[in-house]
Amino acid sequence: MLIVDGKTYELPIIIGTEGERAIDISRLLKDTGLITMDPGFVNTGSCRSAITFMDGDKGILRHRGIPIEQLAEHSSFVETAYLLINGELPTPEELSKFSAMLNEHSLVHEDMRAFFEHYPSRAHPMGILSSMVTAMRAFYPTLKDRSQEENITITFARLISKLRTLAAMSYNISRGHKVTYPSHQLSYCANFLKMMFDSPVRPYVIDEDIVRALNVFWILHADHEQNCSTSAVRLVGSARVNLYAAISAGISALWGPLHGGANQAVIEMLQEIYNSGGDVAPFIARAKDKNDEFRLMGFGHRVYKSYDPRAKIMEEIVHRLLSKLQLNDPLLDIAKRLEEIALKDSYFVDHKLYPNVDFYSGIVLRAMGIPINMFTVMFAIGRLPGWISQWKESLDDPDWKLHRPRQIYIGLNERDYVPIEKRGK
Ligand code: ACO
Repeated sequence: MLIVDGKTYELPIIIGTEGERAIDISRLLKDTGLITMDPGFVNTGSCRSAITFMDGDKGILRHRGIPIEQLAEHSSFVETAYLLINGELPTPEELSKFSAMLNEHSLVHEDMRAFFEHYPSRAHPMGILSSMVTAMRAFYPTLKDRSQEENITITFARLISKLRTLAAMSYNISRGHKVTYPSHQLSYCANFLKMMFDSPVRPYVIDEDIVRALNVFWILHADHEQNCSTSAVRLVGSARVNLYAAISAGISALWGPLHGGANQAVIEMLQEIYNSGGDVAPFIARAKDKNDEFRLMGFGHRVYKSYDPRAKIMEEIVHRLLSKLQLNDPLLDIAKRLEEIALKDSYFVDHKLYPNVDFYSGIVLRAMGIPINMFTVMFAIGRLPGWISQWKESLDDPDWKLHRPRQIYIGLNERDYVPIEKRGK
């Protein structure tokens, strides 16, 4: 119940399947003439969704009801993508049909190579990826002889398959190396590794442990309900633009260092600590200093106020992969020291700041040989099934509306236009 100027309004409560409660204010403006203020949408639910459940206090993450720990242990990235988009785990036939579709759509139009050749050599791959995805609409328009549903399914397959091909292509073209084409004989993840690292002088040998680590890496990034980039996809999608444009908006949002760009920022921070002699104390002090903008990258999360469950799995992957590859990464030692100190420090404890998915993910990627400027691209490939499933859900949502937040104006009141010759007098 809400009382405004002595008048009482009933505000219905919406209850989710996990008992989450929300006050429904959808009629508030119409009934009261008032809007709500919620900078950063900290308290605002933008939709009902049946895709991903998170409990930030308990550190729970489930996709379509299945805990992330089980998906990381038993599933593949392609199967998790199917689950997110279709709502159920696939049968063996459905999975092989889906994999065949991804294979069928794995090549990119040869003319798209021209784009890469004209980008400045120092362009960030996230900027390139975002514009390439928008360009895909021109290369892959709607098929006139197919139904809307068929077109949507083909677009999903094109995006999931080609984003991976484009990423590997851009890496090799940027180095002036030969482009390796995808193969129908390889799995999704093995294909990516082969396209990235195969060379005419040193053929890439597929290592199943690295393939497994990549599957888990992408499963851990596959969806995270209404985060910044997913909200961007839904917001841009609400104007009913084509899916390529909506996904491109998601990629742009993900690029930011407070979101997906944090995986690159973490490694840069760890490297800086390493270069300065390895003492983490001055960096912890800076993160706590109110007058310093520095933040401990890979720490903190808008929803998780306990340990991010993905960070735990990522840490296990780091140890497994480094021991398999017999690598000793000094940045891992620094990361572990940072975590150990931060978890005991009253600033981090009181602010409920724990490692998030990005804290250990860069060390996994380094071990695989992925260059640092491709880290956020790796995140984008992983998050793509989430963006697609959220976009699809929004398309079918009976409550769907064009996203259009309101504001409280705090500028000047009405005043007269002053001719230029009379200004400044
Ligand atoms: N280091 C130091 N202090 C921090 C950090 C951090 N990493 N994160 C938050 N804080 C502090 C803030 O200074 C603020 O302190 P105050 O209340 O004393 O002023 C308080 O914690 C709350 O900070 P907000 O920015 O309001 O918290 P919010 O929930 O909006 O931020 C965010 C979440 C943006 C992720 C933040 O924790 C951060 O910047 N982390 C570092 C970047 C990062 O790792 N991003 C990846 C997130 S996961 C993902 O997107 C995939």
